[in-house]
Amino acid sequence: MLGLLTPTPPSWIEAAERDLDGLLSDHAHCELKAAHSALALVGKYGGEAPELVEPLVALAREESEHFGQVHGRLADRQSPLGPPTSDLYVRSLRNASNRDRAVVPSLLDRLLVGALIEGRSCERFRLLSEQLASAELRGFYKGLMVSEAKHFRLFTRLAEQRFGLEVARARFATLAAREAEIHACLPLGPQVHG
Ligand SMILES: [Fe+2]
Ligand SMILES: [Fe+2]
Repeated sequence: MLGLLTPTPPSWIEAAERDLDGLLSDHAHCELKAAHSALALVGKYGGEAPELVEPLVALAREESEHFGQVHGRLADRQSPLGPPTSDLYVRSLRNASNRDRAVVPSLLDRLLVGALIEGRSCERFRLLSEQLASAELRGFYKGLMVSEAKHFRLFTRLAEQRFGLEVARARFATLAAREAEIHACLPLGPQVHG
């Protein structure tokens, strides 16, 4: 389960199935945010860590393509893209990592929080790929699940290369434990991370 300590409860998939338009709209925004945050990392750390630039620009491109694909599904359903909402899960994860800012480099946490977000999306896309009623959407989410697993590995690899295997893995374990606490308190709804 890509380093995650807790599985998503089965009732999440029921909430997703009940409001597919809401799920797709939230998902479309997640793809945009993923593209945006990859480029923000390039802008902030590309000078000190030039090895990040190429893979993260490629990641931003891929996430933008995913946005187009999810938006296409919304258009097929004649459902508009809803307004962006604040992602409580992502905000909580960032706050949880900021607790140790005095002793942990912010780039290490940005990469590892990125890995956890990709890992959780991957887990949820797997559930959608196995359990949604629509065969078309099951196939769609299967492809996206594979992408998210790749993105998880990209972020962990970048963290390990820059900060060393031991440091990156120890910090990942700390953040994964906090992710599990946050995940357990989230209200379950038709959102990728909700
Ligand atoms: Fe994506
Ligand atoms: Fe991704």
